[in-house]
Amino acid sequence: MADENGILLECRKVTKLFGDDGNTQQVLKMVRDGVAKDEIQSKLGAVVGVREASFQVHQGEFFIIMGLSGSGKSTLIRTLIRLIEPTDGEIIIDGEDVTKMSEDGMRKVRRNKVAMVFQHYGLLPHKTVLENAEYGLKTRGISWQERRDKAQSAIDRVGLSGWEQYRPSALSGGMQQRVGLARALSHDPAILLMDEPFSGLDPIVRRQMQHEFARLQEEEDLTTILVTHDLDEALMLGDRIAIMRDGEIIQIATPDELVTNPADDYVASFVEGASPARFMVARTIMSEEPLTAREGDPVEPMLNQMRERKIWSAFIVDNANKVTAVLSYDALNRAHQSGTGAISVGRQARKPVTCDPEMAISDIFPLVLNTRHPVAVVDDRGALEGVITKNMLLEALAHDIDYDEDEVETPSSETTTEQANTEVTSV
Ligand SMILES: Nc1ncnc2c1ncn2[C@@H]1O[C@H](COP(=O)(O)OP(=O)(O)O)[C@@H](O)[C@H]1O
Ligand SMILES: [Mg+2]
Repeated sequence: MADENGILLECRKVTKLFGDDGNTQQVLKMVRDGVAKDEIQSKLGAVVGVREASFQVHQGEFFIIMGLSGSGKSTLIRTLIRLIEPTDGEIIIDGEDVTKMSEDGMRKVRRNKVAMVFQHYGLLPHKTVLENAEYGLKTRGISWQERRDKAQSAIDRVGLSGWEQYRPSALSGGMQQRVGLARALSHDPAILLMDEPFSGLDPIVRRQMQHEFARLQEEEDLTTILVTHDLDEALMLGDRIAIMRDGEIIQIATPDELVTNPADDYVASFVEGASPARFMVARTIMSEEPLTAREGDPVEPMLNQMRERKIWSAFIVDNANKVTAVLSYDALNRAHQSGTGAISVGRQARKPVTCDPEMAISDIFPLVLNTRHPVAVVDDRGALEGVITKNMLLEALAHDIDYDEDEVETPSSETTTEQANTEVTSV
């Protein structure tokens, strides 16, 4: 389904104008010239709903569109399947520009490739849960038996087994939204679009649904585009987040990048309340200069190097830079004292604790606490990318705390890594 780069959906400079009757080209020119939304509205009476939005969504990605009310989120997500006609730009779904499609072709895309979940569920009140779940399949002319099977499977996946014969009015808000989700999932859509699906729910139910949906997204490898104005939701669920203001996407970033490196004051004010420690990932805080050795390397130069760099743990890597073990200075020194000349994984080394570069640092704490060595950050083939020490974690957390500037001296970034490493084995 996705192209060779894994891209399932791409927006290229999508613009949506409202109230532009008769002067579309003139308004579009102003949009291209960067004239502000307010000015365009006061001069020509047209509202720029979405302004030259460009982004790509990859297979399996959870892509979030976030912004204040009126920033253009709903307009943008609806233009993707032309529930609202875009005024300009291209929308490529599964290799085809849907803006050039016939109405019939577009209907096929909506039925077969993309499913949408709305904020207000959009359920049919007189039909049962099962009938609601299979409704989209019915319009596709799928046989009764297949419809039932698919709808039942979707109902089971969203945790509504046993409720098949009830009508929506008998269900709580959270359960009604599950029906909406089941209906979307019953299509096995390549892309799931969701416009504030959880915002009508009570806070506790909302959190629960978010967690469940995160699990579903992961397990079923869904590709999801979700609109929200809830920062916590965006940071918790999103692989990447697009921030909108006045119809424009002003930053697209991972949660980690967004909280550590907001593009401007608007984004900064958005993510102000977020705790970096919750969203920073291993890659951001790791040191990229771990001390490494190969099996069979001479012991003495390694000991010298460790003393010089004041790093008391070294990782043993193979020819593919795969980490096989970690060695402490003490163990190596003992081997040296007893006359061992070459580094050997068997006797002197320990099994390293490793983590993924994208692991949230809140998940790394327990790992770091369980080893006196740094944690090795490795890619999916096990190759070493960097190390994380206790001090690096504390550093990251410290950015979360309001220092009294006079009392606390923040170490300069140059010395941090070294200091962090020196303290590892003294624990
Ligand atoms: N049918 C419409 N006619 C005129 N203006 C609209 C229409 N729909 C949306 N808009 C305007 O487009 C902008 C974006 O709206 P919307 O996409 O609903 O924002 P959000 O979903 O982020 O709250 C707003 O300025 C809104 O007033
Ligand atoms: Mg909206």
